[in-house]
Amino acid sequence: MASTTIPISLTVLLLLLLLLGRQSSAARESFACDPKDAATRNLGFCRVSLAIPDRVRDLLGRLTLQEKVKLLVNNAAAVPRLGIKGYEWWSEALHGVSNVGPGTKFGGDFPGATSFPQVITTAASFNASLWEAIGRVVSDEARAMYNGGVAGLTYWSPNVNIFRDPRWGRGQETPGEDPVVVGTYAASYVRGLQGNDGNRLKVAACCKHFTAYDLDNWNGVDRFHFNAKVSKQDIEDTFDVPFRMCVKEGKVASVMCSYNQVNGVPTCADPNLLKKTVRGEWRLDGYIVSDCDSVGVFYDSQHYTSTPEEAAADAIKAGLDLDCGPFLAVHSEEAVKSGLLTEADVNSALVNTLTVQMRLGMFDGEPSAQPYGNLGPRDVCTPAHQDLAYEAAKQGIVLLKNHGPILPLSVRRFRTIAVIGPNSNVTVPMIGNYAGVACGYTSPLQGIGKYTRTIHQPGCADVACVRDQMFGAAIDAARGADATVLFMGLNQSIEAETRDRTDLLLPGRQQELVSKVAAAARGPTILVLMSGGPIDVSFTNNDPHIAGILWAGYPGQAGGAAIADIVFGFSNPGGKLPITWYPQEYISNLPMTAMDMRSSPSKSYPGRTYRFYKGPVVYPFGHGLTYTKFVHSIASAPTLVQVPLHGHRKSQNASVSGKAIRVTHAKCSRLSLGVHVDVKNVGSREGSHTLLVFSNPPAGHWAPHKQLVAFEKVHVAAGATQRLRINIHVCKYLSVVDKSGIRRIPLGQHSLHIGDVRHSVSLQAATLGVIKS
Ligand SMILES: *[C@@H]1O[C@H](CO)[C@@H](O)[C@H](O)[C@H]1NC(C)=O
Ligand SMILES: *[C@@H]1O[C@H](CO)[C@@H](O)[C@H](O)[C@H]1NC(C)=O
Ligand SMILES: *[C@@H]1O[C@H](CO)[C@@H](O)[C@H](O)[C@H]1NC(C)=O
Ligand SMILES: *[C@@H]1O[C@H](CO)[C@@H](O)[C@H](O)[C@H]1NC(C)=O
Repeated sequence: MASTTIPISLTVLLLLLLLLGRQSSAARESFACDPKDAATRNLGFCRVSLAIPDRVRDLLGRLTLQEKVKLLVNNAAAVPRLGIKGYEWWSEALHGVSNVGPGTKFGGDFPGATSFPQVITTAASFNASLWEAIGRVVSDEARAMYNGGVAGLTYWSPNVNIFRDPRWGRGQETPGEDPVVVGTYAASYVRGLQGNDGNRLKVAACCKHFTAYDLDNWNGVDRFHFNAKVSKQDIEDTFDVPFRMCVKEGKVASVMCSYNQVNGVPTCADPNLLKKTVRGEWRLDGYIVSDCDSVGVFYDSQHYTSTPEEAAADAIKAGLDLDCGPFLAVHSEEAVKSGLLTEADVNSALVNTLTVQMRLGMFDGEPSAQPYGNLGPRDVCTPAHQDLAYEAAKQGIVLLKNHGPILPLSVRRFRTIAVIGPNSNVTVPMIGNYAGVACGYTSPLQGIGKYTRTIHQPGCADVACVRDQMFGAAIDAARGADATVLFMGLNQSIEAETRDRTDLLLPGRQQELVSKVAAAARGPTILVLMSGGPIDVSFTNNDPHIAGILWAGYPGQAGGAAIADIVFGFSNPGGKLPITWYPQEYISNLPMTAMDMRSSPSKSYPGRTYRFYKGPVVYPFGHGLTYTKFVHSIASAPTLVQVPLHGHRKSQNASVSGKAIRVTHAKCSRLSLGVHVDVKNVGSREGSHTLLVFSNPPAGHWAPHKQLVAFEKVHVAAGATQRLRINIHVCKYLSVVDKSGIRRIPLGQHSLHIGDVRHSVSLQAATLGVIKS
């Protein structure tokens, strides 16, 4: 390091300024166990040397029932005589610190936070290390804001419901339609948020909404009244998968139950779902919270119980630990007094919430003296964080069509670009819902304008696009430019929480604008779509004027920069669709309320997602082009795998009947299928490629016709080859679920598909007698 030439006096002045600057940001006071409070700081629950269960027991022993019930809600009351402040549990951080919950506020030292792309876009990167990296940045910013006194430590994110129906207004919040992708996203993002420090939590994440909640408001049915009728088979092999992975692999500190009923029981009152499955089988180490006013909803709207005390008792006895909403604070004491609930039930709930608060360090005294205590305003919206938001947008954008190939456009050849459409100069719509206040934006127009001259025309006043009086000017712009880029699609007025779509088409007269502009344009036309859900753009298939199509999802604060870099070839697109793009006809006879995943040809029921639907698509799940070309080949893969069984001959005999082994009868722990795949970049540009490995189980089982069993993102230089080693866990991924919800491994030929490459592997039960334990 070079020796400093700054005079001592100036150094002192600078230090002084630095110190003053630090103190001007309001530091948070201790939540509890304040070292300055001699009356409480030495109480047992404050002693960091004790084990957390002992501290929790100590605290519970000091609380009265009246105090306890007031801790059962998101707006938890203070207990001043024990030096404990009130706490707002509800904060959100779906893709950046958000101000949707009352626990977080922007302003003062924290005017904004890094706003990453909406989750459906980030999911399209198929890059699990990116998902975790985003979680790390978000939790840095969340901790910084907590230290500054403007945010909580408990974040009710991510949303890991399956994007089951393309109309769902909240589909944008999810990582898509495949349970394995959604579960991997959940585990990765949660690890990023919660940190990797043993039992200590950086922030507490929450996987929501458990379960089968993927309808907001469709045709008069809303989520508060919806009874999802779900088969045991679909629960096990679709709806449970992301939640199980979130709890078991992500070690999430919370799960949220949903508003809807599942098979006639409100999820927040169902002991089978909460106590038995989430806590019992999956061993949640954390708290179960209700969706906001869920308990009130199942009493008031669903009339599931006849008194509010019964509702409170049912919820707590089912395994609910915290109510978002006042209901449990108001009715639990009376429920105990009338014998519907015991104080021990209330204690069990509080053990779970208090333990999480202790793991967060909330009972360890001053926040500034703790791990992450040094994070502050300068750690929010840093250049590195904002770069990651740009990086995520770049990795998530999907090249749907590239006829010619017309893309990328050369900045030297295309000097003037007509930038057209209602989404062409948007900012806030780029961050989708459950967002916060972004650090800043690069709109699409600004992104394109960085490289070329632009002629800007919105074409329609907004995405609803009801009138055509601005069409003429847009057409003129396209006539006068070397190339035209149209920014079309949706925003939260079309798809949002409480708002499901009614169709899959571009809204209003958008399609007409696209066709007219493309027909008149002097140069090539590129269509850029912003949306969470899929859009039926099959009208572009037979339109030679529309040479290139990109889907940008909701690309976040840096969306315009990422789109422009892809359009002009400064980066190579590598995103893939995490959802099937269905044609409009798909929904014409398909109620959103029909939950079955599997198709039923006799009932003209098409089935849902690429796993079960075999009809025509606009673009399939996993579709995404690039500016280079990748070729796969299998370097090595087994053709035979023996599945070893547990126990005695008798049970082996029973378990292999029907040519499928019960997963619980197989020795699963190290049973995996190792496949080595070479990915060669035979084009002239470097790029990142997503390897998607699908399997087809043997026919005659209750299986999806295709299932993603592994995915991996790899960067390959032009002309180079990368070898990937993929391990497919046989019990988890090659098993299928029978009608009674039992997971079995079908014996016989499983076919693996990697792009155009096929590989067949035979699964056999290990011969009786030769199994070594
Ligand atoms: C585009 O949006 C930016 C940011 O909102 C705004 O400052 C600018 O005036 C807009 N440009 C046009 C041409 O509308
Ligand atoms: C979304 O579009 C609607 C109408 O189509 C418009 O009124 C609204 O301003 C847009 N939302 C944002 C955030 O721009
Ligand atoms: C075991 O298999 C044999 C031959 O397939 C069959 O006859 C017998 O009933 C089976 N026993 C049990 C317990 O399933
Ligand atoms: C995945 O994302 C990380 C974080 O942005 C990045 O460093 C890495 O290069 C990406 N992987 C590939 C193969 O593109």
